[in-house]
Amino acid sequence: MTKIVSPSMLSANFLNLEKDINMVNDSEAEWFHLDVMDGMYVPNITFGLPIIKQIKQKATKPLDVHLMIQQPERYISDFKAAGADILTIHYEASTHLHKSIQTIKAEGMKAGVAINPHTSVTLLEDILQDVDMVLIMSVNPGFGGQKFIKQTIHKIKRLRIEIESSGAQTMIQVDGGVDNTNAARLYDAGADCLVAGSYVFKANDPKEAISLLKKA
Ligand code: DX5
Ligand code: ZN
Repeated sequence: MTKIVSPSMLSANFLNLEKDINMVNDSEAEWFHLDVMDGMYVPNITFGLPIIKQIKQKATKPLDVHLMIQQPERYISDFKAAGADILTIHYEASTHLHKSIQTIKAEGMKAGVAINPHTSVTLLEDILQDVDMVLIMSVNPGFGGQKFIKQTIHKIKRLRIEIESSGAQTMIQVDGGVDNTNAARLYDAGADCLVAGSYVFKANDPKEAISLLKKA
């Protein structure tokens, strides 16, 4: 099983972003996780296209963009132009999810679907073959530094079984409250990719923190 680590730049130091980008470039992490929030779909507002465009200039690894915005289909081509390599949209925020997934792929990006803690993995049955990645939220989206919701382990296991039995190639990403105390359980349950924000950036040695997630 793959073990991909995608540090969430939401917890990075925006007064010295280049330093944190270089840290991820030099680390064992595979991707940059970028959380875009619109203040409507989630209560928080973060950053958008101009910042991502600048991160793209310094990042030497793929940009894994997590859109927490209403009607994400409005911005698919804009995020491609800004430099997104993987674009994840929320199941709950998309009216025509199948169509949006096709558009993301037609733009040349990998397509992800995110589900909130209350959304059952069984609802993805008819879209699984079409998506490259399912992002299972292990906190309610909106903020970094929240407590991991334990029920997530059960959801990962169920989705892993569903993926194996359908023959789909879909990856499972877990986002929220991930650290070195739960990483091994998440990989064991069937996760391929872990997102971690505060755990990485609040660590004394962020590169070592990433390394511990890889070794979990
Ligand atoms: C939350 C975001 C997460 C967040 C994770 O809505 O989607 O990516 O940055 O932060 P931690 O790892 O601190 O929970
Ligand atoms: Zn995220």
